[in-house]
Amino acid sequence: MSEFATRLIAWHKASGRHDLPWQNTTDPYRVWLSEIMLQQTQVATVMPYYRRFLERFPTLADLAAAPVEAVMPYWAGLGYYARARNLHACARAVMEQHGGCFPQDPAVIAELPGIGRSTANAIAAFCFKARVPILDGNVKRVLARCFGVEGFPGTPAVEKKMWGLAETLLPGKQVDTYIQAQMDLGATVCVRSKPRCTACPLAEICVARREDRQAELPTAKPKKKVPQRSARFLVIVDKAGRVLLEQRPASGIWGGLLSLPELAEGESSEGKALTSYGLAVDRWETLPALNHAFTHFKLELVPLLGRVEKFPPRTAEPGLHHLPINDLESAALPAPIRRLLLEAASRLD
Ligand code: ADE
Repeated sequence: MSEFATRLIAWHKASGRHDLPWQNTTDPYRVWLSEIMLQQTQVATVMPYYRRFLERFPTLADLAAAPVEAVMPYWAGLGYYARARNLHACARAVMEQHGGCFPQDPAVIAELPGIGRSTANAIAAFCFKARVPILDGNVKRVLARCFGVEGFPGTPAVEKKMWGLAETLLPGKQVDTYIQAQMDLGATVCVRSKPRCTACPLAEICVARREDRQAELPTAKPKKKVPQRSARFLVIVDKAGRVLLEQRPASGIWGGLLSLPELAEGESSEGKALTSYGLAVDRWETLPALNHAFTHFKLELVPLLGRVEKFPPRTAEPGLHHLPINDLESAALPAPIRRLLLEAASRLD
């Protein structure tokens, strides 16, 4: 048997979980229900839901007979509601396609709604003693660390490699204990942040531990590059040190806040100043750009400074304001515009 499996099985006997409500049963309905509830959800959260669900739907036939609307209240609060809809569809599929008898072959189980390869294998191993590995998020983390598997486990190539590794490591017997041990280790010891390596049965053989790379493995999902945008803003200041501000439309970024006039793509500063505000500015000074990171894009803000004698009456129209550039404390400005104005003010004499 692999050193990995031997250590895990021995550890589970001493330190694993043995009394969860879905253990000590080989009823596939109960095991299946627990595995679906435990996807992305912790044991402590699942416990009361599991109990209530079984009280209301004691058998797969009861679940299949109920309308899906009757199922949802028993899932409310658990999240990922597609799980509940799939669960119900799966119960009906087992009734219709398998005569109400849960299939035993892991490949057939994996065909049912809402059941992937790993969950199908767990059900087959727990209920029917199948000799098949699992590979959920917890197991991927344990494998990545213990064997130093590089690359984000969500990519098909890394996932394929890990399934191969999982097949190789599988013990000849006690597969159910081995699987439960992997789940328990991932949930209680080899956790994502601050793993409890001193309590880990794999510590002596763990690559991440040896190289002190627990925080780097498994490799994180590559960050999507956020688009970079650029926008030009007019900083029009009069002799009295007042700056022209404009209220943004209610929708879109900075909705409803005061801001600097923004140039559209291809629009000229002269053109906008003249047509929108009746201001003739003969010289524009480009000030250093400032960067701001939004969640979905980065914005480069380019300030264009123009000086005027005084603001004509037209700039008193609704939505337009001229406020002292040195006293904007109480104005409702977006943070990067405030920074930009602070910077611009320091350049004025
Ligand atoms: N997470 C997924 N399946 C589990 C199980 N059977 N026991 C504990 N945690 C789990």
